[in-house]
Amino acid sequence: MMITKKINRLEKADQQLSTFAEVVNGDQATRPVTADDTLRVGVDLGTSSIVLVVLDQNDEILYGAFEYAHAVRDGLVVNFLDSVRILGRLKQQAETVLGTTLTTACGAIPPGTGEGSAKIVANVIESVGLTCRAVVDEPTAAARFLRLKEGTVVDIGGGTTGISVFKRKKLVFVTDEATGGSHMTMVLAGHNHWTTDQAEQVKRDPSQELEVFATIRPVVEKMAAITKTATKGQPQEPVIVVGGAINFKDFIATFSKALGTAAVKPKFPQFVTPIGIAMYDCE
Ligand SMILES: Nc1ncnc2c1ncn2[C@@H]1O[C@H](COP(=O)(O)OP(=O)(O)OP(=O)(O)O)[C@@H](O)[C@H]1O
Ligand SMILES: [Mg+2]
Repeated sequence: MMITKKINRLEKADQQLSTFAEVVNGDQATRPVTADDTLRVGVDLGTSSIVLVVLDQNDEILYGAFEYAHAVRDGLVVNFLDSVRILGRLKQQAETVLGTTLTTACGAIPPGTGEGSAKIVANVIESVGLTCRAVVDEPTAAARFLRLKEGTVVDIGGGTTGISVFKRKKLVFVTDEATGGSHMTMVLAGHNHWTTDQAEQVKRDPSQELEVFATIRPVVEKMAAITKTATKGQPQEPVIVVGGAINFKDFIATFSKALGTAAVKPKFPQFVTPIGIAMYDCE
């Protein structure tokens, strides 16, 4: 019973993530926008990319756009003007494809980064002419999209592994450790005497995945060890892993083994949090 429920939840999420991946940065939306539509917009200012999501009033995917960026560090905006410029371009792109103007949006911050960073995120959003309705915390946004009431969300982005535990739909525990996708890149670069850019490119090349994964496996095991310690060896299940850094075929098996608990991953895990953020852009 429990297992069926788990699979069903990710099925719906996987469907939406696949739809998002099909339209992201393309020249078509999933359907034309009508006068009856109320759009919901999410903005994720991440350390490695900025993602813009447009949903309709039923949380169905309409469009998405993203750009790689280095305007954010450790979840905090370090280059305000770059963030604004990139977000402005993404908004423009979405408006051209959708044939309508975006008016409101929501943003997100890693938990515990404080009022100040929420304000900066809101400022970036408002600087491109959007009314910022709310700035939520990233794991809560991910959990909303995953329809998770109880469980553990592990978000492995560029710089960090964020662990959040939910009980009765509430975030009850959160921690963020400095090991993320960029550490995989550094290990790969060091091992092969490559530059960081070179290593980053090879890391994402599916044809080299076998060799790449053999080299970065200890980093994955470290991420699992971090999760294990943070949850005292008994993570609240289900354990759902999201974030761009987990885009390897063997990631989940390796991670689960080191964690000692079976974890699951949705398709296109880098888009989970951004879509969840957009779901808050409503009355
Ligand atoms: N195809 C891929 N294979 C392996 N790693 C990938 C792939 N695509 C992206 N990554 C890695 O994922 C990381 C970025 O993940 P994500 O987009 O979730 O981060 P972010 O939200 O921008 O950052 P953060 O959450 O840390 O602020 C980077 O380290 C990047 O190298
Ligand atoms: Mg992120």
